[in-house]
Amino acid sequence: MFIGEGPGADEDRVGEPFVGRAGQLLGRMIAAMGLSREGVYIANVVKCRPPGNRTPEAGEVEACLPFLREQVLAVQPEVIVTLGRTAAQAVLGTGSPMSALRGVWQEFEGMALMPTWHPAYLLREPSAKKSAWQDLQAVMERLGLSATGEREG
Ligand code: URA
Repeated sequence: MFIGEGPGADEDRVGEPFVGRAGQLLGRMIAAMGLSREGVYIANVVKCRPPGNRTPEAGEVEACLPFLREQVLAVQPEVIVTLGRTAAQAVLGTGSPMSALRGVWQEFEGMALMPTWHPAYLLREPSAKKSAWQDLQAVMERLGLSATGEREG
């Protein structure tokens, strides 16, 4: 399960998460892991588009979090990957910066959670792609996945 921040203009129009430019990169990240979009669940912390694409405010995150929790409990994912600061901080209930959070296994509702960079950030900062790939490889290892999509062992 991948958790992003909230819908942007494209997602608002289509009614699905991660369909814009960042979503296309997320699709490539998922494919590079040997997974398919159909095989994963993609959600956002906030369910409505914040005006002007601003970062969701604390009250908005708080209002939407119970819905995300229910999604996680219904899906029971093998691993959760949070994308970017808003998702990691919201789900983990922390104010720690991404530099401290990413790449370090955490737990949410007893499920393994890996925070990594948001694909929109990776589009702006391609130099962060290497560390994002390290995070995704840790997830793949946990899932017993090779980059060819095989389940090992
Ligand atoms: N960014 C997000 O965090 N979520 C989306 O659905 C699209 C872009």
